[in-house]
Amino acid sequence: MEKNKFEIWSKKKIKFLDAAFYTLLDSISCPSEKLSDSIKYIYQNPGKRIRPLLVLAAGDTYGADSDMLINLALSIELIHNYSLIHDDLPAMDNDDFRRGLPTLHKKYDEATAILAGDAFLTLAFEALTYQPMTNSHKIINFLARSAGLAGMVGGQSIDIEYTNKDTSYELVKKINSFKTGKIISSCIVLPIFLVKDSSYTPEPSLVDFSNDVGLIFQLVDDLLDGISSFEKMGKKVQKDQINKKNTGFTILGVEGLKKEISLISDNIDNYIKENNLTGTYLDYIVKFVYQRSY
Ligand code: IPE
Ligand code: IPE
Ligand code: MG
Ligand code: MG
Ligand code: MG
Repeated sequence: MEKNKFEIWSKKKIKFLDAAFYTLLDSISCPSEKLSDSIKYIYQNPGKRIRPLLVLAAGDTYGADSDMLINLALSIELIHNYSLIHDDLPAMDNDDFRRGLPTLHKKYDEATAILAGDAFLTLAFEALTYQPMTNSHKIINFLARSAGLAGMVGGQSIDIEYTNKDTSYELVKKINSFKTGKIISSCIVLPIFLVKDSSYTPEPSLVDFSNDVGLIFQLVDDLLDGISSFEKMGKKVQKDQINKKNTGFTILGVEGLKKEISLISDNIDNYIKENNLTGTYLDYIVKFVYQRSY
């Protein structure tokens, strides 16, 4: 698929996504202007929107309903925004910049950042209730698990626990698969629930593919922390070494990590080919995930 076609499609979809976000926010009367402004501050400065685009691209492949998909895509982007705000807090990664601007606790204060994260997380589940959704019970359960103890939150916890400790690449894979991989893989798996009956369970090959996309996403983030720049990333680089984190980059080094990324990308490409997905939006975006430079 040409870049242009993907860009036209993604711009259109992000407009729908943003419209759904502002409709949701406008329907809520928050007693704190400061808190609702802080929510807009983070959302307005968009970032790559990879998760919602993955949801929409996977949904397009499976033939899912576009209104249901937008709500699902929004829900996951809201969870992601919450995770970034909390990840940047002094008690976690202690970062001052995100998406090229001061982090929420720097622009406002720590209490507002904690509450804005809480608000994004609850808004995410509210977004799922705005219209009937096929298999909504299953979708809410899967998403909650991907975000919570058995997913991102559990992963963030081991990320912190193993900071400044000797570990192996196996453990880094585990941290990355949980803290980032579970949410990214849910972007590929969840849309299929919109078109299946309630007894459906994802095929193992789809699960493996989605897990590979999730893992590679964080390995590329680890690589870019090591070799990219603030200008490109909109966040400070080489922070993982400063924070004494165990990452793909700190354990394997540039060449070792690039080799690992290349091996995983081969599995991803094979799935795309074997499932006749070449040339789809999903194909385009998974390639962006492992080829990106920001
Ligand atoms: C950053 O995610 C956090 C990780 C899980 C590595 P993104 O790189 O998707 O951040 P934005 O949304 O584009 O800012
Ligand atoms: C973040 O991983 C994973 C989350 C769940 C937010 P990182 O800590 O590596 O993300 P960045 O580099 O701060 O964006
Ligand atoms: Mg972190
Ligand atoms: Mg971080
Ligand atoms: Mg990082």
